[in-house]
Amino acid sequence: MVNCTNVTAKSDSVEQCKTQGIAIAVFEEEPAKNSSLSFMNKLLGGRIERLIKSGEIRGKWKEVNLLHLDKDTPSHLFVIGMGKRSEFTLERLRSFAAIGSRAMKKSRLKNGSFITVEDTNFTPCQYAETLTEGVILGLYKFSKYKTKSQDDDSNSDNNLLQEIIFMAKDADSVTDMNNGIKQGMIISKAVNLTRDLVNEPSNNMTPSLFIEQANTALSKLPVEVTVLDADKIRDIGMGAFSAVAKGSDEPSKMLILKYNGSTNLSNKQKKSEKFDLGIVGKGVTFDSGGISIKPSDQMHTMTSDMAGAAVVVGTFNAVAQLKLPISILGIVPLTENLPSGKAYKPGDIIKAYNGKTIEVINTDAEGRLILADALSYAAEQGASQIIDLATLTGACVVALGHAISGLFSTSQELIDTLVTCGNETHERVWPMPLLEEYTQTIKGTLADLKNTGGRPAGSCTAAAFLKEFVADTQWAHIDIAGTTLIEGDKSQFSSYQPDSGATGIGVRLMVRLVEKLIQKKQTYTDK
Ligand code: BES
Ligand code: MN
Ligand code: ZN
Repeated sequence: MVNCTNVTAKSDSVEQCKTQGIAIAVFEEEPAKNSSLSFMNKLLGGRIERLIKSGEIRGKWKEVNLLHLDKDTPSHLFVIGMGKRSEFTLERLRSFAAIGSRAMKKSRLKNGSFITVEDTNFTPCQYAETLTEGVILGLYKFSKYKTKSQDDDSNSDNNLLQEIIFMAKDADSVTDMNNGIKQGMIISKAVNLTRDLVNEPSNNMTPSLFIEQANTALSKLPVEVTVLDADKIRDIGMGAFSAVAKGSDEPSKMLILKYNGSTNLSNKQKKSEKFDLGIVGKGVTFDSGGISIKPSDQMHTMTSDMAGAAVVVGTFNAVAQLKLPISILGIVPLTENLPSGKAYKPGDIIKAYNGKTIEVINTDAEGRLILADALSYAAEQGASQIIDLATLTGACVVALGHAISGLFSTSQELIDTLVTCGNETHERVWPMPLLEEYTQTIKGTLADLKNTGGRPAGSCTAAAFLKEFVADTQWAHIDIAGTTLIEGDKSQFSSYQPDSGATGIGVRLMVRLVEKLIQKKQTYTDK
């Protein structure tokens, strides 16, 4: 849901604070040295000093101490622990902003200021961008379907925390910080857009409704939107995608996005490579498993099986608003996977867009089938590199859990770049193997390939299957099955993630990748 929090940077010091809330970040073992805290201590008649002495304020990571003041601005002081100085990261800063803004909202404050720790490793712009992400991602709530009730605290939330101020360390850094805020706003709102798309139940997020939402999200931006309908998809020979779609009464669609923010492409590129980057996202708006039907206990979570598709839309939304100098192609195959009298069946043999034949062993391995056609289509369009994001395998959740996504790539350079992007954004990815042995496992008996390789190394054999469809294009596959959705235990997710539902993971990673590719391109052109 969109929140309309206004965020600005000001060079006011703690003495000039005119907001109801003030959040101060303190490092462990140094709370007594914090100058902002010393000022507040005087205001509070030495109470903070006593709390530090008694060990109640220790600056431990994620520790929150709320102190009430006998005045209106500020009326609430939140002392937030950042842990050890040596452990400081931008991820902690992002979490600090989320923890602080949530606490302010819980205290029903309308506005708040943030004073962060100082660390010279990062620029004021990076600081402000990260803090903004923490606030906007941290305050997100998908409450669209909750009817208003007296005891539900989310119902009157709308007018809370309308204004956030980041206190700059000096007047010089204010402009730089405001630039960071602008970027942080664009990026985190794009993540929230992705979260909204993923959280929508499948009765309200069919392939057609997904396209409607994507059109709305991209309407005022320089993004060219094309849609292939089910007839066209079949007619051009996308037999794998069409097979998956057969069981559903909802017409399948292929969404094609094009953004061209670059005037002159790098001379490093081949003529045939029209796009600097292609992004492909799995768009199964509901995955029942089809004829190989899933057990019912967790089936409802398969409304999120279009998270990869939502990341593509979120990325285009951000990249176009940031006006980044790059050309990107987005390919999103959209369908439901349902059992019916028309559904594809285990044992069926189908023909993919690139001509390869596939034996269907399990209709629940549908993601790789729709991606097969989407990937060969993207490769045919001509992109220097293709990344696909997909909630592809339960095996990836078993292997890596919820804290990190699986990464498979034919290019070591792409692996290194994506790992760096993942570490910088904290949307981390872990390199997994693409072995020739896995390719052997998915060789077909009657056809070229089969769509499953059994339980052993399930996410690796799935990736090996996808590899058959990218021709010689540099490619990476990111399995986001474990990192997309929060249900139950939150311990492997960041503090700025909601208690349940979509994380929006992938958007910040892709935007960072785009930024990195632009840097590289500039290095080539400068030479
Ligand atoms: N969408 C699922 C993968 C999934 C599972 C995502 C759990 C998120 C959480 C995918 O289409 C699927 O069903 N994969 C099967 C493949 C198997 C039949 C080879 C799986 O992982 O069990
Ligand atoms: Mn499936
Ligand atoms: Zn699926």
